[in-house]
Amino acid sequence: MEGFFIVGGNALEGEININPAKNSLLPILACSILIDGEVELKSVPLYKDVLVMCDIIRHLGGKASFKNNNLYIDCRDMDKDCLPHELASPVRSSIFMLGAIIGKMGRAKVAYPGGCDIGLRPIDLHLKGVRDLGAKVIEKNGYIYADGRNLAPRDVLLSFPSVGATENLMMLALSIKGQTRLLNPAREPEIVDLQSFINSCGGKVRGAGSDMIVIDGGKKLHETSFKAIPDRIETGTYIIATAMCGGRVKINNVIPSHNNSLISKLSKTTCKIQINDDSIIVESDGHVKSFGEVETAVYPGFPTDLQAQMTALGAVSEGCSIVIENVFEARNKHIAELIKMGCDIKSKNGVIVINGKDKIYGADVVAPDLRGGASLVLAGLRAEGYTTIENISLIDRGYFKLEEKLSSIGGNIKRLEIIKNRC
Ligand code: UD1
Repeated sequence: MEGFFIVGGNALEGEININPAKNSLLPILACSILIDGEVELKSVPLYKDVLVMCDIIRHLGGKASFKNNNLYIDCRDMDKDCLPHELASPVRSSIFMLGAIIGKMGRAKVAYPGGCDIGLRPIDLHLKGVRDLGAKVIEKNGYIYADGRNLAPRDVLLSFPSVGATENLMMLALSIKGQTRLLNPAREPEIVDLQSFINSCGGKVRGAGSDMIVIDGGKKLHETSFKAIPDRIETGTYIIATAMCGGRVKINNVIPSHNNSLISKLSKTTCKIQINDDSIIVESDGHVKSFGEVETAVYPGFPTDLQAQMTALGAVSEGCSIVIENVFEARNKHIAELIKMGCDIKSKNGVIVINGKDKIYGADVVAPDLRGGASLVLAGLRAEGYTTIENISLIDRGYFKLEEKLSSIGGNIKRLEIIKNRC
């Protein structure tokens, strides 16, 4: 089994470039099945979740291949409408395929999605929206069966601005002639990016990023060449890493405003952040003051995908920090692992109380999920002694060659075969 081996204590110095966003690429890949032509996606990292989406596309009868770091998708010959359990269960984003498959094939049979173990993660909002747009949906034996013969445009109100449900419904609405309006949609930058992708193919979607998205569906969508926005969670992870380890890192190819909520929290600490047009420079002595309190929320609030990393920062900051997780009820499994490293953290009902310590210690830990795993990497880089992290395939779902990037700025981290029993 592969793991990370980290020797903590190095400051981080240098420059890194941020990759296109995983959470933009996944819905764009789902949407690609609706495009009547080849889709070129530029500079796509081999995130594990992206590779699973490529397998799904191939299973459905489409083509997906990498050439010179670009990913090419062609679904003109797609001929299947069934997504089996073994392909749907590794990732949450398989559910994004529901709207696109109904739109393309007129019907769909899709197994329930999987993804990180961070809470119940129901799909009721996806199914309600699909039904609102006229599909007949039956849930049976672990599958969602949808019949799209009576699809019709209309206003769909989301009772909560779910990211995935918004993306699913945007895609389904593309194949319905007439105007669909999504009310109270998610406003994350990845939703705006999906709109940009669709419009680059000749689609007519507007309003993404606001409280209403208007989709004029039924248009033929043509080939495109597109580059997804920089990954704001990868950006935030490196910002927090530098704050924790100390040093000076220039993070290139970013959209700084996408990280406003994090930057405004860190500006309350002793960490210095300089914002340029498309880069951020972080400087820290590795002994920052507490950021106080932070609560996760939908965009533009503080992202739940940076909660675990922020908890790790609080654990080595001076004073008490409080992190409140409002989005996923069970996103807390990293806490037990951080405690093994000497962190003083208590958690109840989504409220995480952290008493910062100047010294934490390396330990053998297990990545519980993608972002929780990232928080353990950051803690390992800051800790005294060495840390091994198991289960890093979960981290590979959303960080591409994390160890190479961190090594390039001075982190002492290697990918190794884990051999158990270090005594
Ligand atoms: C997406 C991101 C994920 C991020 C999350 C919140 C991708 C691939 N994943 O996940 O990294 O953490 O947004 O920013 O883009 N909910 C329901 N019913 C539904 C759908 C969601 O109750 O039908 C609940 C969820 O359980 C959760 C909350 O709504 O508590 C937010 O979920 P949602 O915005 O849908 O997140 P995802 O699309 O799964």
